[in-house]
Amino acid sequence: MTITEKIANRSAHVVVIGLGYVGLPLAVRMAGVGLRTLGIDINKPRVDRVNAGISDIGDVPSELLAPLVANGMLSAHTTFEVVAQADAVVICVPTPLSKTRDPDNSYIVKALESVGVYARAGQLFVLESTTYPGFTREVMVPMLEFATGLQAGQAFHVAFSPERIDPGNERYGVKNTTKIVGGMTPACSEAVRALYGAFIDTVRSVSSPDCAEMVKLLENTFRAVNIGLVNEVALMSAKLGLNAFEIIDAAATKPFGFMPFYPGPGLGGHCIPIDPLYLSWKLKSMNYQARFIELADAINTSMPAHVVSRVQDALNDRSLALKGSKVLVLGVAYKRDIEDYRESPAITVLDLLEKKGALVDYYDPHVPSYREDNHVRTSIAGLSGLGSYDAVLITTDHRAFDYDDIVNRAKLVVDTRNATKSVATGRDKIVLL
Ligand SMILES: NC(=O)c1ccc[n+]([C@@H]2O[C@H](COP(=O)([O-])OP(=O)(O)OC[C@H]3O[C@@H](n4cnc5c(N)ncnc54)[C@H](O)[C@@H]3O)[C@@H](O)[C@H]2O)c1
Repeated sequence: MTITEKIANRSAHVVVIGLGYVGLPLAVRMAGVGLRTLGIDINKPRVDRVNAGISDIGDVPSELLAPLVANGMLSAHTTFEVVAQADAVVICVPTPLSKTRDPDNSYIVKALESVGVYARAGQLFVLESTTYPGFTREVMVPMLEFATGLQAGQAFHVAFSPERIDPGNERYGVKNTTKIVGGMTPACSEAVRALYGAFIDTVRSVSSPDCAEMVKLLENTFRAVNIGLVNEVALMSAKLGLNAFEIIDAAATKPFGFMPFYPGPGLGGHCIPIDPLYLSWKLKSMNYQARFIELADAINTSMPAHVVSRVQDALNDRSLALKGSKVLVLGVAYKRDIEDYRESPAITVLDLLEKKGALVDYYDPHVPSYREDNHVRTSIAGLSGLGSYDAVLITTDHRAFDYDDIVNRAKLVVDTRNATKSVATGRDKIVLL
């Protein structure tokens, strides 16, 4: 039976490697349509929790996960033997940047080494982790061919399919977000289309894995560059004494030719601050400078320092020095209503404030504590003492915050997200980005 037939009659077994923000929602979807799904993760506590039906991922309620574990459709493992039973293997491991801000593909390479031991003819291998154009063909295929002694595209299938998950998005999830797939050969594309077509409404093929890799990087570069543009609009507006948010909202009334993006304290999360640098790195190796990406990165990474100078200037206007002032930072998650603080600019802001001598606390109902470079910071328990701070700095616009109450009780509010937009009373206390 072909893999397409096995997927159609639900006898196919699928292995998902990496049960994080991308892998777990995917595994749950696959298991939910009746595909026996085996997850692999090197993080044992995570594997144990999945097997206990407990989800750490906001977009996957434990109530959805637990029945799939209980009825045997989904199980998690710390070792790779189950790859031998798989018809399809989907890799969703992290792709961060190294200390020198170059792509770090070591997680994919390690996962492929482990997969290679059990890989066999007839299987489909899909990479979902974001990477640079050419990685699937230049690194993944030779590794699998070397491990199996077989030829990709002939004896087994290989494809790249970028993940498009948007954590916290209540409207678009795995099922109703079109999936892009790029197979090595038409047969690889047919197999990968069959896999995703089983649980995603629309699957769109592109001509190659390289093209699919580039699609993902275009999407994220588009966001990084547009956010860079509006962040620069915020920097310019601050100099001109104008409100960047008001300007963008007014421009957004144009029904064509304008798409609003909003400034903020900097980029956060696993994708937008990182992925465009995979593209610029690849182009650098071809002696080409990706100018838009580098400029956007320079502006976006300068935002935390700009936020700190806004706080410093606002305190100065009240005859206070930043050094020795009590500053409360509201929100360390990188965006609204989620618990993910990876690459969060709020963390950089907290560190910069502290370096300048401010006495900082943070409050985030979604992030009770976080660890960064072996330093653990813990959220204060609540906002009862808000009035005792010299400045309150809004870095994440969580919906759980009562902005009227915050402005009412704070001495000074520096708002980097325009979260206080609808607060009518006490606006003289608010300083925008
Ligand atoms: N989080 C997002 O919003 C998002 C969106 C689109 C794309 N992506 C991309 O998807 C990929 C995965 O991101 P994520 O956010 O799910 O990461 P994550 O850190 O949440 O999850 C990755 C998981 O992989 C596991 N892992 C690491 N090495 C492994 C190995 N060798 N074998 C098995 N498991 C291993 C980790 O323990 C972790 O649980 C990245 O390339 C990322 O850029 C992420």
